[in-house]
Formats: sequence, structure tokens, C-alpha cells
Amino acid sequence: MPEVLDGVVVAAEIKAEVAEKVRALAANGVTPGLAVILVGNVAASEIYVRSKVKTCAELGIYSEMLTPAETVTTDELLAMVAELNQRDEIDGILIQLPLPAHVETRRLLKAVAPEKDVDGFHPVNVGRLQSGQAGLQPCTPAGVMEMLRRRGIDVAGKHAVVLGRSDIVGKPMAMLLVNASATVTVCHSRTVDLTSYTQRAEVLVAAIGRPGFVTEDMVRPGAVVIDVGINRVTDERKFVEFFGDDPARRTTFAKRGSVVVGDVHPEAYRASSAYTPVPGGVGALTIAMLMANTVRAASLRRGLP
Ligand code: GUN
Repeated sequence: MPEVLDGVVVAAEIKAEVAEKVRALAANGVTPGLAVILVGNVAASEIYVRSKVKTCAELGIYSEMLTPAETVTTDELLAMVAELNQRDEIDGILIQLPLPAHVETRRLLKAVAPEKDVDGFHPVNVGRLQSGQAGLQPCTPAGVMEMLRRRGIDVAGKHAVVLGRSDIVGKPMAMLLVNASATVTVCHSRTVDLTSYTQRAEVLVAAIGRPGFVTEDMVRPGAVVIDVGINRVTDERKFVEFFGDDPARRTTFAKRGSVVVGDVHPEAYRASSAYTPVPGGVGALTIAMLMANTVRAASLRRGLP
């Protein structure tokens, strides 16, 4: 039986450590603060942001949410970011993605002060990651590394295959794995004969946003499978394809009209030695790492250990 890499358990460990650090900062008269900008009414983004704000409250981190309308301009958002950059009680600034098509996302991410860039998306932090210098790192791939480390999975010398080349997950994931001495292959939508790569992966990270894309035949027996995908299934036929007659999932599906599935087909986990489930795997870690980054930013900015 493969080991289940439980993200909820690891996230709880990380959050307990963050809460401890928040208490230590309080002794120095510092309360870490996070500002989240949520543009418009994207349902998934609203759920994520609410969860981020709630977790801040649980850990004693100050947070505020800015919710400009869908019609907000790049200039108006730049002005918001400039003000947050100036405010001393704000240690972290997070702009929830994706932004509406008319907003210049890259320009906006570049406007965040690198020392407050808790998403690790600013070019300065991307550069620090790529050159192995300390900086703020993107939360989801950093969470994956934290999970591997805490569960004793050493990637040094292993062949890791990353499916997906996004700026948020795929590319930073590959860089973190290289920095941890893995041999890394990045595959994407234009990769020819993808299965020939995945079948050689000792560590397989799927981050492509396609429900159940990785099937059992694609997984090398005994691989560690990290499933970053969070895809909503609302179609009965798809439900059966992924979950068969799984009674627990069926109950959720009946109650909510949807269930989530990762980028890895649930049957494909069988071939692995360890895997992150969906839900309850990597997703839980992203928020925990955001909290860790906020506290880290608060300490670094004040020259505290
Ligand atoms: N949208 C999906 N994932 C992320 C993330 O990690 N950070 C931000 N800002 N937006 C996201």
C-alpha cells in the first residue's frame, strides 16, 4: 500500500510553528500583517482568499482584504500596491491570480516590494530562487518541498519529472528540485511522448490543471507522486470515470453537485510508493506556506532572526 502524504497533517505542523514565531515576534512588539488584493468575483479565488484571511486570524497574523471591482484599472491597482509597500504594519502583499485580462499582471507583480512579496513572484525573488539565494519562494512548490523534507523523502540524485511549466508552480518547482540536487525534467503541453518521461520519474509532480490526466501506465512503480491539481468535476460520466462506485465521494457529489479530482487519476496512485491525495494534499500546504512567508517577511524586514 502506498503511503498517503497527508497535507492537512503537515500543514498543521507548519502552522503550529508559525504560531510560535508569531508569539516570539509579539514579544518584540511586532504583529505580522498580510494584505490580500482580490479583484472581481472569481468564485474559486474568493474561496482561496477567505481561507487565507481565516488562517491569518487563527495564527495571530493581522490581515486585510482589498476587493476592487472587476473594472479596476492597472493604474488603480498600482496605486494600491504603492500604498501597501509604504505601510509599516503590512509585511506581506498578495495579489490573487488570475487577474482580469485587461490588467497588466506582470507590471503589477513587479510593483510589489520584493521584501513584501510573500508569493515569491517578483523578478528579484525569482532570480534569488534561480541563483540559490535566500528569498521568498512561491508557496505551492515550497509547500511540496516542505512535505518531502518532513516525510523523509530525499530527492538528491533522484530523477524528478515536473508536468507543467507555469510561473506559479512548474518553473519554481523545477528550480527547487534542482537546488535540492534532483535531476529534473520539465514536461509540458508540447512535450513529445510524455509517457516515456513520466515512466522514468522517481518523483512525479503533476501541475497541469487537467483532471485525472496522469494514468496508472504513466507512473513508474514505486514513484513518489505529488498531485498539485485541484479540478472540479460536475459531470456524472466523469465522476464515474474517476471514482467508480466510491461511496464517500458519491455522498459528496450528491450533496455538493461536484467533487475535486487532481491531475492524477485516483487509480494511478496505486503504482506509487507515496502520494499526495486530492483534496487534503498539496492544497492545504499552500496556505500554511503563505503564513510562513508572511512571518519570515516580517522578521527579515526588521532584521530579526
Ligand atoms: N492563484 C492560484 N494560486 C495562486 C497563488 O499561489 N498565489 C496567488 N497570488 N494567486 C494564485
